[in-house]
Amino acid sequence: MAGIEVRPLATALGAEIFGVDLSRDLTDSVIAGIRQALLGHGVIFFRDQLLDVDAHKRLTRRFGEIFIHPNFNLGVGDPEVVNIVRKPGDTHIVGEDWHTDTTMMAEPPMGALLYAIDVPPVGGDTLFANQALAYERLSEGMKALIAPLKCVHSDRMVAGPNSPVAKAKRSTKARFDDDWRETRNAHPVVRTHPETGAKCLFVNHSYSIGFEGMTEAESKPLLDWLMDWGHRPEFTCRFRWTKGALAFWDNRCVKHLALHDVQGHDRVMRRIQIKGDAVV
Ligand code: SIN
Repeated sequence: MAGIEVRPLATALGAEIFGVDLSRDLTDSVIAGIRQALLGHGVIFFRDQLLDVDAHKRLTRRFGEIFIHPNFNLGVGDPEVVNIVRKPGDTHIVGEDWHTDTTMMAEPPMGALLYAIDVPPVGGDTLFANQALAYERLSEGMKALIAPLKCVHSDRMVAGPNSPVAKAKRSTKARFDDDWRETRNAHPVVRTHPETGAKCLFVNHSYSIGFEGMTEAESKPLLDWLMDWGHRPEFTCRFRWTKGALAFWDNRCVKHLALHDVQGHDRVMRRIQIKGDAVV
């Protein structure tokens, strides 16, 4: 398709794309090829790219409008960009639990483009999990049980003064100030992907707090089970970063986790997110 080569990385999801220089003004046909690869594989990876902030934004805009993350918009720097930095000695990092990005929003981001500026020689991989496959592999009984459920998503675990990470040693700061206000929205536990029509599990450890109409305690056993089920090893792939690599994930059907295993090295990434739709 459009002169690009797509090599699957794992059975469940993920593909590396070759033959594209993302810093160039790409043709519509190449962009369509990249989009098709994203829809087919859930997360796609490119290596050896030279992307400054402007080129990164230009590329992102070919797939949608840029999403501004309310909890990383601290009034300094560029609100369209989140710099994800890990320094030696950090006890916490951004994205260390299995999650879908920013699901407390009424319209969570459609996807994200994460670019590696500086990476350790080993460690700091990112893991991804296919939530359409996780849904498909549930029993018919479980599918029927969760079909009518909605889950409440809140950002209280990742932002605000009472968040468990507010006082942690973490180089990337979020809104931990007293003026921060919680955002919460309920989404279907099973969403339908707006482009592929696939049904996907849509609950995650960073944001999901309980089923609508039930207490958090009542929700917990089933919610924990669903969240853990979603990242069984057979639903995952793992990407080893190199400087200049870029990952582009479909946030509607993929969860991810940044592995917190780096010792003694910086890891510097630049993330730009794309606006999404209401979850149905
Ligand atoms: C994220 O959760 O968006 C960050 C992933 C990473 O740094 O690998």
